[in-house]
Amino acid sequence: MSEKKIIPGASVPVHIGIIMDGNGRWAQKRNQNRTQGHLEGLKTAKRIVKAAGDMGIRYLTLYVFSTENWKRTAEEVGFIMGLVKRYLIEEMDFYRQNRIRIRHTGDPGGLPPDIVRELRQACDDTRDFQGLQVILALNYGGRDEIRRAVQRIVREGPGEITVTEDLIRSCLDNPDIPDPDLIIRTAGELRTSNFLLWEAAYSEYYISDILWPDWTEAELQAAVLDFQSRERRFGAVPGIQGRINHE
Ligand code: IPE
Ligand code: IPE
Ligand code: MG
Repeated sequence: MSEKKIIPGASVPVHIGIIMDGNGRWAQKRNQNRTQGHLEGLKTAKRIVKAAGDMGIRYLTLYVFSTENWKRTAEEVGFIMGLVKRYLIEEMDFYRQNRIRIRHTGDPGGLPPDIVRELRQACDDTRDFQGLQVILALNYGGRDEIRRAVQRIVREGPGEITVTEDLIRSCLDNPDIPDPDLIIRTAGELRTSNFLLWEAAYSEYYISDILWPDWTEAELQAAVLDFQSRERRFGAVPGIQGRINHE
């Protein structure tokens, strides 16, 4: 499908972030183990990555595993890590065919070494692909990303450092990636759960009650269409020329 056909006359968001939630509830509804929900969620991720690329989205950040998700059982955590590893290894042909570049946000420090190895490999192997960039938020927490940025700034010392927003931004995980225009949360919860706290300052939010494993291209299109009806003001009054931003 062409971009024009999906969303006539308006531009698509450059960067979308998705809090892929509801895998557990999807499985519970079917009297299945939560792991079945994650398996199904992985299929959805592939579907949505393809759809996002087809729509002309440039960056897609997927919230795969948060810094708080370690609180889950060893069985569930192990299963999710196994799925991630499989996805990174087995989907290389898919990335190549669709010119998808894989990137990471989050702390590699806390991840199992084999996952870090596969993640680095996938990032390296897809580095030159010019299509959609898929940023996997893995062992990611918004607070933790800001904490690590501050740590990098402090490491530059000693001496007095003038802290600007640009300096903080430059120390985040992927400073070249523009802030998300749209953040989607599936499965209905009305919270950020520590996702992209810095970057989402002026993102538009879209909450869907549909559980992540049930998401299809149609849901993504609906979210983008909704986004296109928003007026983004960034603190200004539309139509009135104000003073220049002080930063
Ligand atoms: C999202 O689905 C996947 C991860 C957080 C890893 P959940 O596993 O949180 O599903 P629910 O919220 O329990 O339904
Ligand atoms: C957010 O979902 C994390 C991911 C989707 C990876 P959670 O299911 O962990 O969020 P809470 O616990 O409901 O806030
Ligand atoms: Mg959840």
